[in-house]
Order: sequence, then C-alpha cells, then structure tokens
Amino acid sequence: MILLGLNIDHCATVRQARYRDASATCGGSVEPDPVTLALLAEQAGADGITVHLREDRRHIQERDVWRLRECIATRLNLEMACTPAMIAFALKLKPDSVCLVPENRQEVTTEGGLDVVGLRDRVQPCVDAMNAAGIVTSLFIDPDEPQIELSAKLGAPWVELHTGAYAEAYHTPRRAAEFKRLCVGASLGKEAGLTINAGHGINYVNIAEVRTIPHLHELNIGHSIISRALFSGINEAVREMKAKLRA
Ligand code: PXP
Repeated sequence: MILLGLNIDHCATVRQARYRDASATCGGSVEPDPVTLALLAEQAGADGITVHLREDRRHIQERDVWRLRECIATRLNLEMACTPAMIAFALKLKPDSVCLVPENRQEVTTEGGLDVVGLRDRVQPCVDAMNAAGIVTSLFIDPDEPQIELSAKLGAPWVELHTGAYAEAYHTPRRAAEFKRLCVGASLGKEAGLTINAGHGINYVNIAEVRTIPHLHELNIGHSIISRALFSGINEAVREMKAKLRA
C-alpha cells in the first residue's frame, strides 16, 4: 500500500499571515496550530508528517519542528536545504528522515528538483552525515537517469521524484510524456536499489494516475489536502486522499 506523507507547511503559512511576530502562544489565540493539525491528520490515517524548515522561516518555525518531534506518533520527515546550518539542526533533531531539496529565496514553493549531479560535493557530505546518524536521506530529484543513478551512488536510500512538471502538464498534451518520464524514473530507481517516493502538485484528481507509477512507497502531499481541509476538515481531507490512494 502506498503511504501518505502529509506536508503541513501551509497550515503554518496561514498562521504566519497573521502572527509572524508572535513568539509565544498569545494565550492560545495563535491559530491554526500545525502541530494540532498533524495530530488530527495522524488520527485520520496520515502515515507521516512532513515539514520544510526554510532558511527564511516563511512558514514552519523551529519550535514547530521540535514540538512535532515530541508529539507525533508516526514519522517526521524534515525537508531541508543542503547547508551546514540545516545539517547541524537535523543531527540535533534526529527526524526519521530528511528530504534534501533545493531552496531559492525568491521561489513561491520548491521549483525544480535538487541537482544532485551539479551539487555532488555538497550533497555527499550531507548524505554521509545522515547515514552515520541513522537518519534516512531522501533526495528530491527530477525523474532523470543521471540524477537517479548518482543518488544511488551517493548512498541515499530514498529518492522523492518531483511530480511538479507532470502536475503542471496535466491538462496539456505533454501529460503522457511527463507521466512516462516518472514511470521510467521510478523503474530505474528501483533497479538501482532506491526506495521510490514522489511529491509536489499531487491533488485529488491527478492522484488516480499518480498512484499507478510503479514501485511507489510514499507520496508527499501538502497544498491540495490543506486546501480541501478548509472546506471539509482535515479528518475528511486525509481520509478521502487515503481512499484514493487505495482505490
Ligand atoms: N515534496 C517536496 C519535496 C516539496 O518540496 C513539496 C512542497 O513543499 C511537496 C512534496 C508537497 O507539494 P504540494 O504542496 O504541491 O503537495
């Protein structure tokens, strides 16, 4: 069964829109609390919680991550840039896994995959440090052969294939080609011994096809589930996506 990792960054985005400068809980009035959301999502069947602690701290804050580390019962997946500061933070936090992502201050959300080939000298020490600490490393990469092969060579046990280009092409003639690219990438990764995850831009419509990508272990989904939860609540939003994963 494909696992569901829920990315809760956008719950924090809503909180930060109002309480960017609040350092305490303001008597409980600071809302919405991403940790509470994570606990409710776990009760509804989420298999793991993902957060991206960005350098500019635009949504998730360090204290959110520490609270999640203490409270959640499933797995904590920390998305992070491959920087010395984030490596030091992850080694202290000890999440169940880290997902290395590219980070650019101007971007609205993570844009392309991590260029493992171009950044090999930065990625290798990070993978080594996480492996030594018993933290699973996932590399968020575009589903292209050189990136996949090098990810395996660097010793990262997992990759997360970037589904953003497919999601963007969903209503265009490019969809079939992008889907094939993901399927081929997943098979190459599996042959290279990698665990295959995928994420970015997955929603309640494209999930029907995304779930048929071969060898999937886990999907990381954020924006569409958090958006759906505004109308139906997080419990229903998670349950509905889990049902579509199994369908
Ligand atoms: N996976 C990674 C590595 C991401 O950076 C993101 C976006 O933060 C997601 C998954 C989730 O993407 P979305 O919010 O589009 O579902």
